[in-house]
Order: sequence, then structure tokens, then C-alpha cells
Amino acid sequence: MDYQSILNSIYNEVLVLDNNGKIADYIPELKRVNTEKFGIALIDNYQKIYTVGDAIEKFSIQSISKVITTALIFSKIGNDLWQRVGFEPSGNAFNSLVQLEYENGIPRNPFINAGALVIADLMLEHFENPKEYFLNFIRELAENENINYNEIVAQSEKENGYRNAALVNYIKSFNNIKNDPDAVLDFYFHQCSIEMSCEDLARVFQVFSHNGIVPRSKFKFLTTSQCKRMNALMQMCGFYDQAGEFTFKVGLPGKSGVGGGVVAIYPNHYTVAVWSPKLNKKGNSFYGLETLERLTTITEASIF
Ligand code: DON
Repeated sequence: MDYQSILNSIYNEVLVLDNNGKIADYIPELKRVNTEKFGIALIDNYQKIYTVGDAIEKFSIQSISKVITTALIFSKIGNDLWQRVGFEPSGNAFNSLVQLEYENGIPRNPFINAGALVIADLMLEHFENPKEYFLNFIRELAENENINYNEIVAQSEKENGYRNAALVNYIKSFNNIKNDPDAVLDFYFHQCSIEMSCEDLARVFQVFSHNGIVPRSKFKFLTTSQCKRMNALMQMCGFYDQAGEFTFKVGLPGKSGVGGGVVAIYPNHYTVAVWSPKLNKKGNSFYGLETLERLTTITEASIF
């Protein structure tokens, strides 16, 4: 498959679309980004990488980080994880509070903020220095030592994160948060603040297109069944209340973040990352979704 010329033509086609998306402004520091940035990186399962546009420029991965924290905890505690968080799509916005009360503080899935906060709590429970461990793990997957937290973005979210503070305290009232809520929030805001490029992101997510094996080191990070479940979660929950539309139009598991990043996996074939900061009304990158819909349509290949 000539991915390079396919990406080039998709890039040129999407770039001229009328993009009336808006950048996330509820984290003030994220507003400083150049809204016109647009990059794509695809890495096939033979490790060949194809890029176009702003593919090596770093951006804030935000919610995309939730997939990696979840995978780390899943690899560590196995199916006990599902006592603390569910695996059903929420059909609600990423930061919604409504289901928590009648579902007794067990978040629907690990990718809505409520669920990611429970996973952050588990990170504090299972790792002595979770911030250091998480960053090193991401660097290893990305094959890039030059990936860091953005302290200014983390601080900016901390100063404005009233909704996440409400979520973590509310979940604690059901005894599904074990640590100090401020410590959980501190870890969570840091994990979201990590910056990397489309190229890095495509490398990080390769583990999900290789049945849980880290391609470079051949380390079997997830069992094949765990990898299946991570991809299933991304399919059902990766785009919040737009997960159905993403499945309908793209047909691949994936995950978005409010920094404008989107990553998708075609198991046993490739991993692809797109970055464009302007978001649609559901909080997902407008160009990101347009790009991926074209990719699976032109290549006539998806998981369905
Ligand atoms: O907690 C928040 O609101 C952000 N740190 C992350 C949200 C996010 O990326 C949702 N994804 N589309």
C-alpha cells in the first residue's frame, strides 16, 4: 500500500475544508497553540513511518494519555480492574458527572474523566513514583527520551479544574478513590500535560497493533486478550458521545484528546496519529476525524 501518496492526497483534501471547529479554551494554557497546525504520521507493522505536515511538532496529548495509564494498570492487576471501573460506553461528554450517582461511584469506563481519575488513583496505589514511572514508560514506547510533562499546562489545568475536583471528591464519597484527592488530581493533570508529536504518538500506540508486544524490545506488555480488550475499549469509549459516529465513519479503535490529537489502530497493520487543534462540538479534532474517515475509505480497510 502506498501510504505516503495516500496521506499526501488526504492532507491536501482536508486542508481546504471549511474548519469551523474551536480550540479547547477551558484550560487557558491550551489556547496558546497555533490553531492552523495539521500533521499526520502513520507507522506500519514493519516499522515504516509515513508523515505529512506538522508531524514532528509536539502537542498536548491530554486524554490520549488515559489509554496508556489504563493499559499499565490492566497489565499490573488484570481483571480486578473491572471492580473499580466499567467497560461500557457512556454516551455522555468526557467530563460528565450524571451517571456517577446512580451507578454508585463506579465510572462507566476508564476514558471518561471520572474513570481516568480512578485509574490515576490506582497508579498512585501501585507505583512508588507514578509520575516518573509513567513518563519513563511513555519514553520507552515512543523510543524518544525527549518527551516531558508540561508543568505550565498541568498548573493551568489545576487552577481551573473544578469539574475534575468535583468528580474525584464525589467518587471518593463512594470509597472508589483511596488516595488524597489532590494527589490524584496532581498525577492526572500531569499525565494529560505530556507533549509529543504525531510520530511519537503513532510509535507509542504500536503496542496495540502488535497484540500487546512492544515492537522494538519484543516485550510482551499485554496479553493478547488484554490487548483485545484495550482496543475494544477504544472502539466503544475513545470518542465519548461521538464513539458511535467514529466507529460508523472510520471503523477503527482510537482515542482523542482536547489538544487536538487523535490516534487510531488498525490491528496487525498500522497505527496512525493526526493532530489539528480545532475541535468539533463533541471535543474531538475536526480535521482528525475527516482525515481518518478518508484513510479507511480510500484504503478500503478497517476492522469491519
Ligand atoms: O480533564 C480534562 O478535561 C483534560 N485534561 C482532558 C480532556 C480530554 O482530552 C478529553 N478528550 N477529548
